[in-house]
Amino acid sequence: MRKITVRDFLKKKQKGEKLVLLTCYDYTFARIIEDSGSVDGVLVGDSLGMVVKGETDTLGVSIEDVVYHTKAVSRGLKTPLIIADMPFGSYQAGIEVGINNAIRLIKAGADAVKIEGGREVAGLIKKLVSFGIPVMGHLGMTPQYKNIFGGYRLRGKDRKTKERIVEDARVLEESGVFSIVLEMVPESLGREVQEAVSVPVIGIGAGRYTAGQILVIYDILGLYKDLNIRFVRQYANGYDIFRDSIKKYAEDIKEGRFPGEENVFN
Ligand code: KIV
Repeated sequence: MRKITVRDFLKKKQKGEKLVLLTCYDYTFARIIEDSGSVDGVLVGDSLGMVVKGETDTLGVSIEDVVYHTKAVSRGLKTPLIIADMPFGSYQAGIEVGINNAIRLIKAGADAVKIEGGREVAGLIKKLVSFGIPVMGHLGMTPQYKNIFGGYRLRGKDRKTKERIVEDARVLEESGVFSIVLEMVPESLGREVQEAVSVPVIGIGAGRYTAGQILVIYDILGLYKDLNIRFVRQYANGYDIFRDSIKKYAEDIKEGRFPGEENVFN
């Protein structure tokens, strides 16, 4: 399979083909995603702060963290588009800071970067696109704004917020994004945003009418137990499978069943 590009994202949306995205943070999972042959885009998300580093939010993630994980992920992928998240603090201090950090992510192996926010990041997005860096937007419940929102809450319930999100989506499209992640909003708003822009909207808890969907890989595999999120569908009980395997390994050692004949050098 050939490498998927940002142009393919638009083409797939125009053909009515749903876009499939997942997050990923390391080489081994990247190899599994590649082998599945079924994922269009992989996000090295700042959710790594929670699922990899064990923090309670994404705010502590540094540009160095995302560079490190992007390098690992990019070694395991040939086909999906690789998008690296711009973490909190990597672009807020000015356009120049944002440009320098986006360049670091591209050099680490990303094909595109993702930036949270609406009209306030439009200037940065225009600059990045003008320098050849594709940008994915992120609207709705943007986790880097959790201290303003008062936690991880459904966004876009009232008319004012709804209108702002739709207008921000238009601004992001005009600024040159190739796609927009829309997180945790009512399904009707997910539909409205997708109808307001021609670029594919990638929903996460944004209902059934967006051009694509994204989830955190540890969530679909049932590995991350700290949160119970309504918009997640779990496809494996990874946590229990891994815990029980570790228990069996310990039992085998204690009972003298491991190493076996096949594991020793004669
Ligand atoms: O960081 C992340 O994983 C994300 C997705 C949940 C969209 O931003």
